[in-house]
Amino acid sequence: MSIQTDGIAPHGGHLINRIATSAERDEFLEQQDHLPRIQLDERATSDLVMIAIGGFSPINGFMEQADYESVVEDMRFVNGLPWSIPITLSVTEEVAEPLKEGSWIRLDDPTGRFVGVLELTQKYRYNKAHEAVNVYRTDDIKHPGVKVVYDQGPINLAGPIWLLQRDAHPDFPSYQVDPVESRQRFKEKGWKTVVGFQTRNPIHRAHEYIQKCALEIVDGLFLHPLVGATKSDDIPADVRMRCYEIMIDQYFPQDRVILAINPSAMRYAGPREAIFHALIRKNYGCTHFIVGRDHAGVGDYYGTYDAQYIFDEFKPEELGITPMMFEHAFYCTRTQQMATTKTSPSRKEERIHLSGTKVREMLRRGELPPPEFSRPEVAAELIRAAQSQPE
Ligand code: ADX
Repeated sequence: MSIQTDGIAPHGGHLINRIATSAERDEFLEQQDHLPRIQLDERATSDLVMIAIGGFSPINGFMEQADYESVVEDMRFVNGLPWSIPITLSVTEEVAEPLKEGSWIRLDDPTGRFVGVLELTQKYRYNKAHEAVNVYRTDDIKHPGVKVVYDQGPINLAGPIWLLQRDAHPDFPSYQVDPVESRQRFKEKGWKTVVGFQTRNPIHRAHEYIQKCALEIVDGLFLHPLVGATKSDDIPADVRMRCYEIMIDQYFPQDRVILAINPSAMRYAGPREAIFHALIRKNYGCTHFIVGRDHAGVGDYYGTYDAQYIFDEFKPEELGITPMMFEHAFYCTRTQQMATTKTSPSRKEERIHLSGTKVREMLRRGELPPPEFSRPEVAAELIRAAQSQPE
């Protein structure tokens, strides 16, 4: 099933829609007690949703072996279309053993709710070390994305899926905007060019700077914070969303910004995830995508600009969305404004930038990040949230 869309073409040409129709839903519900059942974790649940709403177009289910191997090896599906991150459903041998190819599998979310159906077309083994080294550029188990791969089962289940229903997001109902709707909203606003912004951190002034530099060039800004699974020391999504509300209310031209949630899980795959993030935003209708310093990186696994260099491995028309690359931005005390080395003559000691870890330590101690790093209203919100957290 696919939907025709206006504006920029979705990846692969058509927006996928795998939300069950009411007739399909009734049929699945009728059989719910007879279907083999699999419990999804948080990441697989969000992948199910992203596939169903077309965020992962052209994927219509969990990847079969040939596509999986081709994506891991070459960052392309078998048909040559670029794709950089495997979307798989991994289970233990005991779970996989009784499942028959060709059958329907009931998919429950982590709370045990029946949320989807998999038409099982294939079960296959895969090589975890190979996936880790190719996708994450390391097999170090301390890498949070690699850890997920090593912790999951050795068998991938593949095939098309259906999502049983599309409920309002429990925490962010008004920001739940599916690709069909974001495309519609861009059209209503008359935006011909829209830049997408991925983030998993609270908004700081370097984010604001690169967003606004981009907004000088394009018609609209699609702020798309990721609210799926992140590592435990990342700032929770509700706090990040409140910071965005504050910023849009006070520091942005409201008619040129749309805030919406990205339900997917973080992989921390750096360069490969930058490509993935760009393709997702293309599906939401963005024409441009911001890639700054160490995009989707973690620790010291990737070079500062590796997530930008990887775009050179594709022809622009293959990706179909234009990256907007930004250097490491900081507050420059000499020119008294946000800048990068492209725009400021500052010496190192004239640059104020803080790492996420450093900011978290400050917040825990009850110290406000300085106004050169964070808008004061955002800093106040972060400190309030940090202090209401249990130790
Ligand atoms: S990410 O994991 O989602 O990439 P984060 O929310 O910190 O993390 O970053 C969102 C986007 O802003 C990414 O494109 C990142 O490269 C960019 N970015 C973050 N901090 C800076 C900075 N100081 N200078 C330039 N770009 C930055």
